[in-house]
Amino acid sequence: MGKQYIISMLCAILIAGIAMPVAPTINKRPVAVERWFKNLPHTKEKLTKLHFYFHDVVSGKNSTVVRVAESKATVKSPTVFGAVFVMDDPLTEGPEPDSKIVGRAQGIYSSASMEEIGFLMTLNFVFTDGKYNGSSLSVVGHNPIFHKYREMPILGC
Ligand SMILES: *[C@@H]1O[C@H](CO)[C@@H](O)[C@H](O)[C@H]1NC(C)=O
Ligand SMILES: *[C@@H]1O[C@H](CO)[C@@H](O)[C@H](O)[C@H]1NC(C)=O
Repeated sequence: MGKQYIISMLCAILIAGIAMPVAPTINKRPVAVERWFKNLPHTKEKLTKLHFYFHDVVSGKNSTVVRVAESKATVKSPTVFGAVFVMDDPLTEGPEPDSKIVGRAQGIYSSASMEEIGFLMTLNFVFTDGKYNGSSLSVVGHNPIFHKYREMPILGC
């Protein structure tokens, strides 16, 4: 979480560094600007690892997802291309559905791939317990659901 944030801050500072008029004696090369940025006292990179389970229940009485839209072509698509879903999924400490809830994954996902099942995820992880109670993480990313490992960018926290 911290890392992505730092990267976006770095981009902002680099852009600011390029745009601002500076005296000719100051080294303006990207490497020098980056060195200056790294030496600022409040920009130490921080890595936080969070581990929780995400329960997306797509059918049944306790379903946590609703399908809100689709196109005429969706019904014929092997990847449900064009379908849009809204979810409010529990996040739990352990893998069991009745494990302690630490937050919710709230957002929208849509089938955005015609080749394989791949969702565009737009969601917030909203923490409701523990150290991060009251905090949230905003995620936008590519979710090819049958891949074992998936990486999605955190845009803000
Ligand atoms: C739905 O949730 C309730 C309460 O947690 C649980 O008792 C019930 O077994 C669940 N039903 C299904 C179909 O999973
Ligand atoms: C989480 O924070 C809310 C708001 O401050 C508070 O009402 C709630 O009791 C907290 N929950 C836990 C489990 O600490």
